[in-house]
Amino acid sequence: MLPPFTPALATWAAFAFFLVNGKPCPPLGPVLPTTQQPSRDATVADAVKALKDRFALITAGFEGSAVSIGVQSIHENNPLVDLHFTPDKKLQRGSQTVTANSVYRIGSATKLFTVLAVLQQENINLEDPVTKYLPSLLANQPRGSDIEAVKWNEVTVGALASHVAGIGRDMAFDIAIFPGPWDDMGLPPVKSNSGPRCSGLGGTKTCNAGDLLSQFTKRHPQYAPFSAPFYSNVGTSLLGLVVEAASNKTLDQLMHENILGPLGMSNTTLIQGPSSDQWAFIPVNESTWGLSLGVSDSAGGMYSNTADMLKFGTALLKYDLLGEAKTRKWLKPHVFTSSAGQFLGAPWEIERSDRLTSDGRLVEIYTKAGDLGLYHSMFALVPDYDLVISVMTAGPEASAAFFFSANIVSQVLKAIVPAVDQASRNVAKANFVGTYSDSSTNSTVVLDMDGGPGLVLANWTIRGFDVLANFPKYSVTPSSKAIPGLARLYPSGLQAANQTGWRMVFDQVSESEGQKFDAEVVMQDGSCVNWGTMDRFNYDFVGLEEFVFNLSLDGVAASINPRAFDVMLRRVSN
Ligand SMILES: *[C@@H]1O[C@H](CO)[C@@H](O)[C@H](O)[C@H]1NC(C)=O
Ligand SMILES: *[C@@H]1O[C@H](CO)[C@@H](O)[C@H](O)[C@H]1NC(C)=O
Ligand SMILES: *[C@@H]1O[C@H](CO)[C@@H](O)[C@H](O)[C@H]1NC(C)=O
Ligand SMILES: *[C@@H]1O[C@H](CO)[C@@H](O)[C@H](O)[C@H]1NC(C)=O
Ligand SMILES: *[C@@H]1O[C@H](CO)[C@@H](O)[C@H](O)[C@H]1NC(C)=O
Ligand SMILES: *[C@@H]1O[C@H](CO)[C@@H](O)[C@H](O)[C@H]1NC(C)=O
Ligand SMILES: *[C@@H]1O[C@H](CO)[C@@H](O)[C@H](O)[C@H]1NC(C)=O
Repeated sequence: MLPPFTPALATWAAFAFFLVNGKPCPPLGPVLPTTQQPSRDATVADAVKALKDRFALITAGFEGSAVSIGVQSIHENNPLVDLHFTPDKKLQRGSQTVTANSVYRIGSATKLFTVLAVLQQENINLEDPVTKYLPSLLANQPRGSDIEAVKWNEVTVGALASHVAGIGRDMAFDIAIFPGPWDDMGLPPVKSNSGPRCSGLGGTKTCNAGDLLSQFTKRHPQYAPFSAPFYSNVGTSLLGLVVEAASNKTLDQLMHENILGPLGMSNTTLIQGPSSDQWAFIPVNESTWGLSLGVSDSAGGMYSNTADMLKFGTALLKYDLLGEAKTRKWLKPHVFTSSAGQFLGAPWEIERSDRLTSDGRLVEIYTKAGDLGLYHSMFALVPDYDLVISVMTAGPEASAAFFFSANIVSQVLKAIVPAVDQASRNVAKANFVGTYSDSSTNSTVVLDMDGGPGLVLANWTIRGFDVLANFPKYSVTPSSKAIPGLARLYPSGLQAANQTGWRMVFDQVSESEGQKFDAEVVMQDGSCVNWGTMDRFNYDFVGLEEFVFNLSLDGVAASINPRAFDVMLRRVSN
């Protein structure tokens, strides 16, 4: 149980301020440019210090568990947060002082690297059935009813990556291979000759590729493909075999050539641990250290350290590992779960939180948890704020606490994200807020900021005409309704040299009717459908909601261009 977290930040004071005006419905994604220098911001510095104090409280009673936390902005070279706890009890042959270089096992965070290797392989189509690459799955499948036999032809490579294949979870935990009182516990004798032959646990033979392909087919489906998310380590082991079949290289080779080598992740390994145990934190009684998981290494076998994982996340968000569009595609959900706050990607475990920023909007966190023996890690990306988080823990206390590494990631998010959000707001205020005008056309744009997301478009007058107040009239079916709430500007992410694209979005589709609708319909935030209502107003091929800023080299707005009106308004005051 962790001590309760008290947000000590001034940002939370702004919380109540905007809610009285109705909840804004910003487009998904960042609502302002993210600060490029969070470490220079005083609010962020305070948050880092508060997190450090909290870290000391959390680890205070730990005798045998190490904890490492790293947080980095992809725009900076040094981590924002670099916290490590070294317990008194640890193996003598391991590292005696835990740092960002200390190697841990990362368990299932390995799945990120295996799926990435698949995505990097141009000749693998995620829509292909897995049997295209591993035909022996079909050949080895014993006949059976739909309740007994997996329909391997319907299991796609993509289904394996996002845990929707409906196949069983593991090979290693079948107790039939272990001597035990199973007969006394009501189980029938194991069928002669056809029982499990490998596990890797407790001194048994580790499963190899041949074992997996010949024996896993005996397991029943747990669901039909694409029914429901169902965590499967075997699914990722199969992906490891798919990528080896498609490339005729080992997964280890592919990772070194395409990921670990280019990024200089020199302490990250797939099959064997570091060449010296002194680089690693090894808890007392750890049974998995140095143990290869065989064909399951691709699902949970890797070793890494905080420094390497921060490099990995930074490269990913900078589009160095996949192309831009492919990276963005990878960072999207594929399937819901039965938690309203958790979705699945491939194999991202995606969290959605409206508790992180003062505007109360939803922020997505792309995570991957990993558990092996006494090791528990979680890696996380917050794309809206260009942040990478690595949490690694190992030891008895870290193993006993409920979802310990996930809880630590939440504590990090609660401390750091509101502060980076505030820092970004401060920068955006200095860079964009103010009056823009063009006297030759009698045009004015006024940008402001309130407690809500984005910039507030407070005045939009072009050629002497009040565009903002009359916006619903720029239509073939003009409306004389009032505009629905405040107009805000949000970055679209489109960039060209020193220009950035933004778009105007009203807070609500209809402010007066929206609240009533929300109260009557079955879904949360029912009226927040701006994604579907944007860009209905066009003139001469240009959207009336399109705005472009010209920026100076230091990111300060010099002018704004409401594109459809084709006037360039210079920033005349802040
Ligand atoms: C590459 O292909 C050869 C010939 O088919 C095969 O023997 C070898 O196992 C393959 N290697 C990998 C890593 O798949
Ligand atoms: C791993 O990290 C240690 C420092 O902790 C470093 O001395 C060593 O060179 C690294 N290993 C490799 C293979 O680079
Ligand atoms: C290691 O295991 C032994 C035997 O189960 C146990 O007595 C001991 O307390 C354990 N040590 C730690 C640090 O967990
Ligand atoms: C917008 O600015 C223009 C020019 O300064 C001014 O005449 C007008 O009253 C302003 N409109 C609003 C709604 O503030
Ligand atoms: C400029 O526009 C304002 C309305 O915003 C209007 O009152 C004023 O007369 C215009 N000035 C000129 C010179 O057209
Ligand atoms: C804005 O930038 C574009 C492209 O660099 C340039 O053509 C234009 O003159 C700039 N306008 C202003 C007002 O700086
Ligand atoms: C934008 O870039 C162009 C070309 O690089 C340059 O001429 C112009 O001065 C820049 N505008 C600003 C506002 O810095």
